[in-house]
Amino acid sequence: MSDEHHNIPVITIDGPGGSGKGTVAMRLAERLGWHFLDSGALYRLVAVAAIDRGISPKEEEALGVLASSLDVNFGISGDGMVILLDGNYITGRLRSEEVSVFSSKIATFSLVRSALVKRQRAFRKAPGLVADGRDMGTVIFPDAVLKVFLTANAEARAKRRYKQLKEKGESVNLSRLFREIKKRDERDSSRAIAPLKPADDAHVIDSTDLSIDEVLQIIHKLLDESDVSL
Ligand code: C5P
Repeated sequence: MSDEHHNIPVITIDGPGGSGKGTVAMRLAERLGWHFLDSGALYRLVAVAAIDRGISPKEEEALGVLASSLDVNFGISGDGMVILLDGNYITGRLRSEEVSVFSSKIATFSLVRSALVKRQRAFRKAPGLVADGRDMGTVIFPDAVLKVFLTANAEARAKRRYKQLKEKGESVNLSRLFREIKKRDERDSSRAIAPLKPADDAHVIDSTDLSIDEVLQIIHKLLDESDVSL
């Protein structure tokens, strides 16, 4: 990576699913006029492509090849981000529970993770980037100017997810979602490579009893207090 690239500021927002990191990161990027990376979407894209090709979540080598050869395009339409895989719109499928579980299984493989490193760093473009995920502050952008680790207890996260999926018309069961979230937390936190954990220099924010706006206020305060020039 060139020095010039390193001068482009990055803010990382890591944390478990349902902590609100996606919404917070997107809103922050909008307010700052910066680019936005939803790194979980890349793992989800590999999952969708694997499901469509009949590749099982255990075939590390085939999944690694798939991750490095994905034909992906991100775009903005009137009502948000659209994602094309092999030229087909797949945005709607990305958030299903099937894809959530599949993506967290394949995210344990080093061949998959290393295939996605370059793709993620390519999002670092002027004037700046807000990146959300699990290892943005620890592995992908260790030189970020501000690192946030957003968390919330599993019950609050399951309820948020339940509401999201319900609004999308998916039939969901709250106690099953709660169990899935706990299992996914366990897999994400205990994996050998890039486990879900705050970077040493991350600011940990517990959003259990906070609204998205309250979290954003805290982040803006952290930015004001730091010597980041925006
Ligand atoms: O953030 P999201 O829930 O969309 O991520 C889907 C899955 O992708 C997570 O459960 C996690 O296992 C994996 N992931 C990851 N590293 C990231 C982002 C997501 O391992 N930076």
